[in-house]
Amino acid sequence: MSDFKSISVRTSPAYTVTIGPGLLRSCGTGLRETLSPCHMAVITDSTVAPLYLETVRGSLAAAGFSVSTFVFPAGEGSKNFKTLSAVLEFLAERRLTRTDCVAALGGGVTGDMAGFAAAVYLRGIRCVQLPTTLLSAVDSSVGGKTAIDLAAGKNLAGAFLQPAAVLCDTDCLASLPADVFADGAAEAIKTGVLCDEGLFSLFEGSALAADPPEIIARCVSYKAGVVERDEREQGERKLLNLGHTVGHAIEKCSGYAVPHGHAVAAGLAVIARAAESLGWAEEPVAARIAACLSQNGLPTATEYGAEALAAAASADKKRAGGDITLVVPRRIGCCELKKVPLSRLLPVIRAGWEG
Ligand code: GLY
Repeated sequence: MSDFKSISVRTSPAYTVTIGPGLLRSCGTGLRETLSPCHMAVITDSTVAPLYLETVRGSLAAAGFSVSTFVFPAGEGSKNFKTLSAVLEFLAERRLTRTDCVAALGGGVTGDMAGFAAAVYLRGIRCVQLPTTLLSAVDSSVGGKTAIDLAAGKNLAGAFLQPAAVLCDTDCLASLPADVFADGAAEAIKTGVLCDEGLFSLFEGSALAADPPEIIARCVSYKAGVVERDEREQGERKLLNLGHTVGHAIEKCSGYAVPHGHAVAAGLAVIARAAESLGWAEEPVAARIAACLSQNGLPTATEYGAEALAAAASADKKRAGGDITLVVPRRIGCCELKKVPLSRLLPVIRAGWEG
């Protein structure tokens, strides 16, 4: 049986997510299946560069791409206008044209920022995603959301740019520190709560005993379907924000010191407790979700108070006029969108808050 899984995402443009071992070593030939040789600007961070940049550069060059590389300091703190501007100036200095391409090599921050640079440089050039973390593999490398953070909140400036290809090298997962692996587990657990109780239950023992390529493929298949039906998040795609309203608020309150997956985990626990206590859930969900998150090294509470979280969340993208759309678990494997007036946000957060 092949070690590789391929998932088609039928968006505009359509592309393939390939999941398997050794894909960074062979990324040049892999990308030649989609792209003619061109100038490839590989954008990565200071954590990933020493691990994989030379492998990627060598593979691209051997396949006939000309390669430029840009490395920025790792961390959410770099996902801002300053770094974006530096990346754009770099693309211009290296004279990339509209037939050239950006490669985002790394985790969620790199994918979001390099993708946004590709979306706006020359009004849009192609981008390929080379995720190296579980979080970027199961979620952020797929679906075309790109963004940077503003002082007012997370991901508040961005664009939709579907990648030309996603190559997810599962060998990268072996070297992830436990807390970085846990960040990705949070997004995968979120997917289980949204649509797949079987996937959720894989995490109820220990994620390390589970099968990462299978988990990635299940998450990507589900996300591909949602994104195909609702590429621009007009409706169904909002479900993927489960745990993110409070999660983004936690990230903002912490000055982005709390990593995304950890913040989403706490946000998921808060909304699950709120759903149960407000009678929105059909069955008890909160204790099971909290136990699963804890077993995977993730938080289920936050030090930031309900008032601070509600204030931060009111600047979130999920607000529309005087309402905010929450994603609410009904049971494990089934969630719904609930539009509530902004004035209701604080009581909802209070109903699920634990410090
Ligand atoms: N991470 C949520 C989405 O891509 O829509």
